[in-house]
Amino acid sequence: MINWKIEETGFNADKIASNGNKYLVGNGYMGIRGTLEEYEKEHLVAVNLAGIYDKVGDGWRESLNAPNGLYTVIRVDEEEYRLPNSDPLEHLVSLDYRRALFSRKTTWKTPRGKVTVESERFASLSEPHLLTMKYTIKADFHADIELRTGIDGDVWDINGPHYDNLSLIEDDGLIKVIGTTHEKGDKVCVTEGCNYNFTCEKNLTVDGKRILRHFSFITKPGISYEITKFISVYTSVDTPDFEKEAKQLVKECIEKGYAFLKDQHVKKWEEKWSVSEVVIDGDDDAMEALNYSLYHLHSIAPRHSESLSIPARGLSGQTYKGAVFWDTEMFMLDFFLYTEPRVAKTLLKYRIDTLNGAKEKARSYGYDGAFYAWESQEGGFDACSDYNVVDVFTGRPMRTYFKDKQIHISSAIVHGIMRYFELTQDKSILEEGGAETIIECAKFYYSLLLKKVNGQFYELHDVVGPDEYHERVNNNGYTNRMAKYTFDMAVKIIDSLDGFNPEAAKHIRDMYPVDDLKKKFSDASSHIYIPQPDKEGVIEQFDGYKKLEDVSVETLKSRLLHEKEYWGGAYGVAAHTKVIKQADVVTWLTLFPEDFPEDILLKNWNYYEPRTEHGSSLSACMYALLACRCGMPEKAYPYFMKSATADLTGTGKQWAGLIYIGGTHPAAAGGAYMTAINGFGGVSFENGELKAKPQLPPSWNKLSFKIIHLGKLYQVEATKEGAVIKECK
Ligand code: BGC
Repeated sequence: MINWKIEETGFNADKIASNGNKYLVGNGYMGIRGTLEEYEKEHLVAVNLAGIYDKVGDGWRESLNAPNGLYTVIRVDEEEYRLPNSDPLEHLVSLDYRRALFSRKTTWKTPRGKVTVESERFASLSEPHLLTMKYTIKADFHADIELRTGIDGDVWDINGPHYDNLSLIEDDGLIKVIGTTHEKGDKVCVTEGCNYNFTCEKNLTVDGKRILRHFSFITKPGISYEITKFISVYTSVDTPDFEKEAKQLVKECIEKGYAFLKDQHVKKWEEKWSVSEVVIDGDDDAMEALNYSLYHLHSIAPRHSESLSIPARGLSGQTYKGAVFWDTEMFMLDFFLYTEPRVAKTLLKYRIDTLNGAKEKARSYGYDGAFYAWESQEGGFDACSDYNVVDVFTGRPMRTYFKDKQIHISSAIVHGIMRYFELTQDKSILEEGGAETIIECAKFYYSLLLKKVNGQFYELHDVVGPDEYHERVNNNGYTNRMAKYTFDMAVKIIDSLDGFNPEAAKHIRDMYPVDDLKKKFSDASSHIYIPQPDKEGVIEQFDGYKKLEDVSVETLKSRLLHEKEYWGGAYGVAAHTKVIKQADVVTWLTLFPEDFPEDILLKNWNYYEPRTEHGSSLSACMYALLACRCGMPEKAYPYFMKSATADLTGTGKQWAGLIYIGGTHPAAAGGAYMTAINGFGGVSFENGELKAKPQLPPSWNKLSFKIIHLGKLYQVEATKEGAVIKECK
């Protein structure tokens, strides 16, 4: 059994950035990096907000960090004690990821004795706008303490500052900071109120971008002095009444008190774990890593919204511009589908509601239909820059083609919507825009098809597949296969219109010449070129791949001239070789294993595995899943662990050229979940029935989990002998 806690003793300044990710708490509305209360922007403090963005000058448009209402510093006998400046005698940070509680305990030795501060915080799962903290000070002598606590408006930004002006206000015993964003004039309002259990002298100051309360008191040895802070975070995008609601929430929380709010929060988490916990008998490390991954997925699930998605780095900061990638539909969706389908629907609704953005993007390139944003922000705006990497040698921006050529993105949306529909039979997703989305995605691929004068196939040229190191290739197998799937799904939707509610069916029929589209899409599906295995059984990733230099990943590494050098692009070390960034053909075969006999799946796994750098955290789980499909759970296991520990070890890539890409890895977390459940658990859905054909790794005795299928909750117990599936009553 595991103890649901990660912790670290001793202080290491080199880990400030990685611990910010590892010890993150969040509730889908906001993510609070696991930084200490006294930290400032250079320590990458962030209260990162979901779904709200800003752009300043020529900088990249990115998500917003709210002013930090946790900010707290102490002085003892007029000397400031804070990390990383003052060496501690003892230091501990921990995260109880069952109950989503961050805590720290630090002791400093002062000339007159020892002083210890302890804190505990949580982003409430029962109240999305609420962040709460308890902070205590204890000394073993009569220490002269000055506690400064308030709101720090000097926030960490990558491409900021985003607040053109900040108002720092005291209002009725509460303090607040309201920031106005540069681009749209949106307001972000952080309001703080507190309770404390001691008598003291009080004062309030505004110091630059900080508004701080000062509490001065003399401690009695061994007595704890406790302050609890209630911080609400609202934006003008949430409600025009944000200031009023923010104040009201803080007032209510001051009344309710910390213990009550914590209890409510913990109960909500218990509710989540009662469905989503995965128990692995025989392997505590795997169980811990997997449930810790699920903790991260829960922490960023947008439960407060009906139409919002999850950024590629979750809510751990502005990396990747806080934008949504294919990561959500292809890697994270299953977790929510199996344990909380309402969240899965919210994620997909975001795509449906940003269809216009996708249509505009298609139009801007002269295509028909819907070309979804590679890096999607609000409204489907594509935040991906044409120059998304900085060359380490020249410092110049490099032209990259993620945005223009990674056309497989639209098929990921179709895959997500259809998977949701298949596992829930909730037709409303199709009736409320899903059907239209699928048809528009099919129209997009249709408008891209090429046929040579004497050719018999349709081809897709000049694309980037999942392996981003090879740009502008022709007939990337994964992309072509996903386009075919999209055509098939569009035909299926057209065929099922009679079963739709009459209004929704009429809407589709009024909008589209459905018979004509059906004919076109059917033809496209049966004639699109799908690369086939060669005589060794290997499927060529794209036209000409086989002619590239065959070198090992290690050899390629030895050719690097700079550790942060980008491997792709025109001059990248990988571009003219067979080394690929991440699972590509293997992703295709994982999604459509029925396309080929098992020996072909295995041959391709064996071929591509040594040629894959796994330069993306999305890669490992696809290798793990296909290994399971090929009956090799022992080979899947290290890849599973790599996905499951991505945020525990924090060893993933931190740089793409000179661009910082660190943060949490929710797609790896989702991939670890898929591997455990679909791979090792062997779960599948056949003709509306939940089935499981387990293949457990050697050390696992039993794998137990719950799954929601067609609205019913099932308990699955998988052992090496097989699986027992029971409906939970
Ligand atoms: C990967 C993409 C992924 C993105 C965000 C990139 O490094 O190549 O496939 O969507 O990161 O996680």
